[in-house]
Amino acid sequence: MAFCPSLVFPLFLLLVSSYTHKVYSYSTYGEKELLSFKNHQWTHNKAYNQTCFTQKSRTENGATILEMKHRDFCSRPINNWNQKLQKRLIDDDIRVKSIQSRIKNIVSTTQTETQVPITSGIKLEILNYIVTVTLGGRNLTVIVDTGSDLTWVQCQPCKLCYTQPEPLFNPLISPSYQLVNCSSHACNSLQFATGNFGSCGGNANACNYVVTYGDGSYTRGELGKDNLVLGNTQIGDFVFGCGQNNKGLFGAASGLMGLGRSELSLISQTFEKFSGVFSYCLPDTDSLTSGSLIFGNDSTIYENSTPISYTRLLQNPQFYSFYVLNLTGTSIGGVDLQSPRFGQGGILIDSGTVISRLPPSIYKAIKNEFLKQFTGYPTAPSFSILDTCFNLSAYEEVNIPTLKMKFEGNGELSVDVAGMFYFVKRDASQVCLALASLLYEDEIGIIGNYQQRNTRVVYDTKDMKLGFAKESCTFS
Ligand SMILES: *[C@@H]1O[C@H](CO)[C@@H](O)[C@H](O)[C@H]1NC(C)=O
Ligand SMILES: *[C@@H]1O[C@H](CO)[C@@H](O)[C@H](O)[C@H]1NC(C)=O
Ligand SMILES: *[C@@H]1O[C@H](CO)[C@@H](O)[C@H](O)[C@H]1NC(C)=O
Ligand SMILES: *[C@@H]1O[C@H](CO)[C@@H](O)[C@H](O)[C@H]1NC(C)=O
Ligand SMILES: *[C@@H]1O[C@H](CO)[C@@H](O)[C@H](O)[C@H]1NC(C)=O
Ligand SMILES: *[C@@H]1O[C@H](CO)[C@@H](O)[C@H](O)[C@H]1NC(C)=O
Repeated sequence: MAFCPSLVFPLFLLLVSSYTHKVYSYSTYGEKELLSFKNHQWTHNKAYNQTCFTQKSRTENGATILEMKHRDFCSRPINNWNQKLQKRLIDDDIRVKSIQSRIKNIVSTTQTETQVPITSGIKLEILNYIVTVTLGGRNLTVIVDTGSDLTWVQCQPCKLCYTQPEPLFNPLISPSYQLVNCSSHACNSLQFATGNFGSCGGNANACNYVVTYGDGSYTRGELGKDNLVLGNTQIGDFVFGCGQNNKGLFGAASGLMGLGRSELSLISQTFEKFSGVFSYCLPDTDSLTSGSLIFGNDSTIYENSTPISYTRLLQNPQFYSFYVLNLTGTSIGGVDLQSPRFGQGGILIDSGTVISRLPPSIYKAIKNEFLKQFTGYPTAPSFSILDTCFNLSAYEEVNIPTLKMKFEGNGELSVDVAGMFYFVKRDASQVCLALASLLYEDEIGIIGNYQQRNTRVVYDTKDMKLGFAKESCTFS
């Protein structure tokens, strides 16, 4: 097996049978979708080694397509699934709190009209999806993040590095590696990209960077440039962080790919090649399927089953590196909901947050309508941020009212049935509506990755628009 198998072989099934649970299968009728719990594999590849981490890629019609997997698939053996499912929610709350404080810091910054550094707010452990790229001739598997800008990898000589299955990047054996000069424009851009100024020192004229994340994790090192290859597309002089002091990403990917909006992000640096357009399709967390991350503006290669509906990306300096949309309505099971918050303030779309967070008035409207339509099922206790829970262990399948989110223009996200419920317990005795309320009406809402599953999400930073279409995620 050269790669993580996307098909289940009989032998593999035997190996993983201790994690057997239920399989989702879907069918739509009316405004409900069927979620069927049959033989779902709560599983991951047993090969916690380099092989599992190497994702495929290809180039087609000028677009570059990278296979994207959930990182749990390559994690160390999971003995306690319930604990893992529950910890993920708690970590998710830490990310959301730090996003909120990051935005608050920017707001207070603009008020005093000074450019005080902002703090990035990401807890590395919960960023979920990985892809493989080639940097300086080496294959490296990195975590994808639309909520931050600087791409970085763990680098030699390493003062402090967490364990990763792939060898560390070694600038000394890459003939194309160059230090980024401390007086360069790239070094000056660090402030906006990371919230911290670049500093000179160490190596002659080196530009030292620091990115600190919400939970005390960090990466420090020097800015470098090298050849980046995505699929078959070469990008010369790609600026990234060569991280010699990294803490927090326990035993996993070799670094992070920043797909935010600022100048240092991969999207800005590849603008000439891909016109600032990328898209992804996120697979189900616990399944063996792959999704894809596509760079470039050729929509004919998407495998979407509905047309792409676009909405405007809001231009708001307050949310500099985030992608923000104008949520104008929602419906549950075809019933349109009312809230004074629709059309106000914007909602952020994030690949790293798991569960969507909604202003209390919108959440309450959704919850009440959902409970009205999803009747007759035994309830279960709340868990962490999730307060609408059921005990579905006696059922083989349930019909779930569908959630639609509507955006300015004609944008519509029709949430896939796989993104409606979060299993707090594997045996379905505690299954919760996968949405949560913010504490305050004026905090910014976030569309999390659960609700983006099996959807092609297209980011067009040139025309400043974002599109959604239904797609069954695969890499083929
Ligand atoms: C990784 O694990 C798989 C499955 O156990 C094995 O077939 C493969 O040889 C291993 N690869 C390396 C590089 O150790
Ligand atoms: C990188 O991965 C590709 C595709 O899996 C493989 O063909 C290539 O040999 C790898 N390169 C290195 C340097 O390992
Ligand atoms: C880096 O910047 C310093 C100071 O501005 C300058 O003297 C030096 O020539 C630059 N080095 C390179 C390689 O550009
Ligand atoms: C969102 O769209 C609505 C309807 O088109 C509009 O009235 C409102 O001003 C927009 N909100 C923002 C923040 O742009
Ligand atoms: C969930 O429901 C099943 C079947 O109705 C029942 O046997 C079980 O005790 C319930 N579990 C909890 C935790 O309430
Ligand atoms: C992408 O392609 C579409 C259709 O060909 C075109 O309308 C749009 O302007 C293009 N966007 C960019 C950023 O090139």
